[in-house]
Amino acid sequence: MQFNSNFNDIAESYLFAEVAKRAQSYGESHPDKKILRLGIGDVTLPLAPAVISAMHSAVDEMSRKQSFRGYGPYEGYDFLREKIRGYYASFGVDAGMDEIFVSDGAKSDLGNILDIFSPGGVALIPDPVYPVYVDTNLMAGRKTVFAAADRGNGFLPLPDNSVNADIIYICSPNNPTGAVYDFGGLKSWVDYANSRGAVILFDAAYECFVHGNLPRSIYQIEGARTCAIEFCSFSKIAGFTGTRCGYTVIPRELVRGGLSANKLWLRRQSTKFNGVSYVVQRGAEAVFSPEGMSQIKQNLKVYENNAKLISDCLDGLGIYYTGGKNSPYVWLECPGERDSWRFFDKLLEEAQVVGTPGAGFGKNGEGYFRLTAFGSPEVTAEAVERIKKLF
Ligand code: MLT
Repeated sequence: MQFNSNFNDIAESYLFAEVAKRAQSYGESHPDKKILRLGIGDVTLPLAPAVISAMHSAVDEMSRKQSFRGYGPYEGYDFLREKIRGYYASFGVDAGMDEIFVSDGAKSDLGNILDIFSPGGVALIPDPVYPVYVDTNLMAGRKTVFAAADRGNGFLPLPDNSVNADIIYICSPNNPTGAVYDFGGLKSWVDYANSRGAVILFDAAYECFVHGNLPRSIYQIEGARTCAIEFCSFSKIAGFTGTRCGYTVIPRELVRGGLSANKLWLRRQSTKFNGVSYVVQRGAEAVFSPEGMSQIKQNLKVYENNAKLISDCLDGLGIYYTGGKNSPYVWLECPGERDSWRFFDKLLEEAQVVGTPGAGFGKNGEGYFRLTAFGSPEVTAEAVERIKKLF
């Protein structure tokens, strides 16, 4: 039996594993240096007290015969799906209970969703992009084409009718660039997808950073229910990166060749997935309580302040960047350097600050660099001071 040779087409290590490896190796050879990590977008604030208290109660329930729970529903407990439904309603989206599927995170669902598509076809992926979209399609042997995101289009590419695509990836607010589509931009993609029977995979993992009159969900766009699947996560909104919980929304109207994407996904999940633990789902439910919401908003404010600190620093240095507003990522042009891995080394060696090189997100990311606002305020402030001194 042979192994999947499509793996030959992807980079040997996952981008963030490579960044961590290089930072660790530098740390080992320079034990006296304090390294400040603003590379992977991993949260640093603890879970909100309301979440912790709900999880403690759930653990107690599991300790008693009368309230113990075994396998949960494949699509998630109703108590959590009702809350997710209510959250969507708060920005005007009507998502049916049977359209919401709870999972262990957006990253897994974004990879696993490919199970429901027929083999072949073309995936249209922005460049630069969250590497999971590209890698998972290459692993499946699907052809990928790229929509160039660059300074010229503000890192928000629009559809090109001469390009044929079957699956379209959109992430807004974007990882890595922090750019956010407006209603008109997303409407163009929805119209493009509907016109050719394509399916949009919309990654909304960073919607909680959106302020003002910008879309947080693809379903705020007319026509999206016939062409889009949306992925969201508790990782960024509520610090669940280590706890693991997310959700995917698949409208009933998303049907191709008589097959319902919603039904296929339920079939896929019930075959390959046994749900998220009861304790974690109770914690996720608490995110939507008034107390939980107010606590997580305070945490989000901390990350937003970090983003502002980084943006203000770049403004002061006259360095071009996108993001930082409506996004926890700041995407900057590498000052004085086109090679973003070389810039990574420079920042690590001369300032002991770790970021993520743009080239890791695609060809168009070359010359750019991503800093995350998910660090602690202290680490962010110190990193900013070191960057100021360097340039
Ligand atoms: C990132 O740094 O891009 C994210 O943390 C990755 C993820 O959410 O999986």
